[in-house]
Amino acid sequence: MPKPPLSMKPTGWFQVGWSDEIGVGDVHRMTYFGEELIAWRAESGRLTVMNAFCEHLGAHLGFGGRVVGEVLQCGFHGWQWSQEGRNVCIPYQNRPNRGRRIRTYPVVERNESVYVWHDVAGREPYFDVPDVFADFNDGRNPDEFHRPRRLYRERLEIHPQYVQENGVDFAHFKYVHGTPEAVFTRHDFAEPVSFVDFRLAFAFGGADSDDAETEVAESCVEAINGGLGVTVTKSYGLLEGRTVQGITPVDDCTSDVRFTAYIGRDDDAYSEADAQVFGQEVIRQFEQDIVIWQHQRYSDPPALATAEHAGFTAIRQWAKQFYPDGIGGSAAEVYAASQAAGGTQ
Ligand code: FES
Ligand SMILES: [Fe+2]
Repeated sequence: MPKPPLSMKPTGWFQVGWSDEIGVGDVHRMTYFGEELIAWRAESGRLTVMNAFCEHLGAHLGFGGRVVGEVLQCGFHGWQWSQEGRNVCIPYQNRPNRGRRIRTYPVVERNESVYVWHDVAGREPYFDVPDVFADFNDGRNPDEFHRPRRLYRERLEIHPQYVQENGVDFAHFKYVHGTPEAVFTRHDFAEPVSFVDFRLAFAFGGADSDDAETEVAESCVEAINGGLGVTVTKSYGLLEGRTVQGITPVDDCTSDVRFTAYIGRDDDAYSEADAQVFGQEVIRQFEQDIVIWQHQRYSDPPALATAEHAGFTAIRQWAKQFYPDGIGGSAAEVYAASQAAGGTQ
């Protein structure tokens, strides 16, 4: 895949893990947006995500760094850093260095997932991470779902926007997933958190949909996009489920993909084993999309059929607000600017 023409440094919330991967006292190494980062969990349970390098002499805090109560102690000379990235102790001097600070990132843990806020301009979060239960306002809570199944794929050549565009792409369902075409009932791209609802009508039993034997069952999906990085969905009709998908840029070409699939208990009509099979099927369908996204070349302007025009135009216009240059972003331009500024991307 060629380097995407869209910036891989969009603004927003991005999933960087699942909460249970980072226990109390753990220091977890990761790379996102071209930066080496660490996530560490203090004794109180609070999670901090910060740049990985100690401001003293530059040790990587993910190698030898240690959680001590509520602070992180560097493995090189024992300097201690707070959850705000401030130096709070130099063990061989009676005053800390108050001037130096390690960059920290806003973090939210929600639906057992860890999200960080990324913004190249350093702005604070201006929208919220969607909640796969609370935001559908139907009173359902996590206890009413089976244990979720997860998919984690590292460093795929996928841009987050490709995944979002799937949400307006009615025609792909038939060809990629072997389902009926989707009929969209809602496209709302007015705010950074956007909404897409659609239905798929499945025909069972008869030779065709006009056959008297045929029963039609609808599967309905409501999706909430929290910026470009995170989408939560609710499906009902044929199968009650929820999904959380997180696409997080690692560098200028690749993203990590995380997907969590919940199946409803449905009055315990399904056993745990059945739910795991259904969950795996939901993941299989998502993997069918992944193959396309991984090898796709972003087409701009695309050749759209008349019926595709409104949805794609709306989502592409909406997406622009998350890019550093505000005009759709260009990885090449961001790279050139960073080079001109003496950066080493
Ligand atoms: S490099 Fe971290 S304490 Fe010296
Ligand atoms: Fe799809």
